[in-house]
Amino acid sequence: MDDEYLSFDIKVDQDKLIDYFHSLVKTDINDTVVSHKEEFEEIYNYKIKGTTVKEFKKELPFSTHVRRDLISKCNENDPDISDICKFVREKIPGAEFGLIAFFFQRKGEDVELHQDFPYRKNSLLMIPLFGERKYALPKSNAVTYYKDGGEYQVLSPAIVNVMKSHGVRNVDQDRLMLHLEIPNLTIEQIKRRIL
Ligand SMILES: [Fe+2]
Repeated sequence: MDDEYLSFDIKVDQDKLIDYFHSLVKTDINDTVVSHKEEFEEIYNYKIKGTTVKEFKKELPFSTHVRRDLISKCNENDPDISDICKFVREKIPGAEFGLIAFFFQRKGEDVELHQDFPYRKNSLLMIPLFGERKYALPKSNAVTYYKDGGEYQVLSPAIVNVMKSHGVRNVDQDRLMLHLEIPNLTIEQIKRRIL
């Protein structure tokens, strides 16, 4: 499936990133702000009063799966992050960043089919973190799958399409990843312009 998944070759200092993760505040995903709320309201002609994931889901006319991820928001200007952003901008001309955050997903917390929009839009660079020398986090057998599409084990950096319905199953270990949202480019656009 061409419009779902793209391996992305990037070298990062795994231990440094995990140290950075430990220095940040961890928040409940449900208390984080929905970035693309206005666009969602325009597309679906549906007004939402709340701004957080929890408030948003309460107002939707259907029930959705509750996520339990812990989020640690990063600053694009932090040196650990700005190097990654610079590399991505060089590889993918015109790429802009939305939410940049560590996602900590607990063992057993499989995720039902969903689309990330309006929480996130278009493309997401996922960098799984296991450590190198200082840390040795176990690799899970988790599988990211698309509705009527492919199945992927994200054990190395990859860009995924968050607009197509997808889920995660077999989360048999805690998972730590750095997520960089690229909201201004679809995965098809990234595939066309990647250097
Ligand atoms: Fe998702």
